[in-house]
Amino acid sequence: MILTVGGIKGGTGKTTIATNLTIWLASQGADVLLVDADEQESASDFTAWRDETTDGQAGYTLVQLNGATVRRQVEQLRPKYDHIIIDTGGRDTASQRAALFASDAYLIPFAPRSYEIWTLSKVLSLLDEIQGTRASPLRVYSFLNKADARGVDNSDATSVLLESEGLNLIDFPIVNRKAFASAASKGLSVFEMTPADEKATTEAERLFTYIMQTQI
Ligand SMILES: Nc1ncnc2c1ncn2[C@@H]1O[C@H](COP(=O)(O)OP(=O)(O)O)[C@@H](O)[C@H]1O
Ligand SMILES: [Mg+2]
Repeated sequence: MILTVGGIKGGTGKTTIATNLTIWLASQGADVLLVDADEQESASDFTAWRDETTDGQAGYTLVQLNGATVRRQVEQLRPKYDHIIIDTGGRDTASQRAALFASDAYLIPFAPRSYEIWTLSKVLSLLDEIQGTRASPLRVYSFLNKADARGVDNSDATSVLLESEGLNLIDFPIVNRKAFASAASKGLSVFEMTPADEKATTEAERLFTYIMQTQI
């Protein structure tokens, strides 16, 4: 499956989701390619650091791709891997559009109580355009990341997202938890931390399982 993690805003946790999902899939024995399609190169920096901290045992392959050629290149790479995860920058770039044409699924993290919720109309018009020109519909999964631990505090964001047809809000939020940042600082996913933050791993696993197993 080819999955793009994107959106029109920085800092929502795209790279965090992309790297944790990549490592989670690889830990199950899948051959995974992580595509860094963001000029800021965070997924590449993470992977370089992970290569050092794991003695070259990152467990997946990383490539950097940019611009409109992302589509053709990803399509060429598809048969070589079980899954391809594409991490994009937080803008409506040629790379993100090209990635979406080559993808089966689009993962859009939103952080609640911040202005990115209000960039929704841009995401919706991007989606409209992409869906209208694809042979088969792109599967869209949006979800809250960096959510508040108290579920009730996420309700404003949730209701705004639920109103937007086509975004398919998945009600499996990932709460703002230090474990995500501390794992990243060690070149690890939350699944590899000891002691494990059970809440972080449970939330991430629940979301990832849903995305990989549910055709919407
Ligand atoms: N669920 C989370 N809980 C706590 N911190 C998070 C979470 N998701 C992401 N972060 C942190 O937020 C910052 C931005 O995340 P990042 O994945 O780089 O966002 P993006 O790729 O969308 O710009 C990073 O410091 C990251 O560790
Ligand atoms: Mg990023």
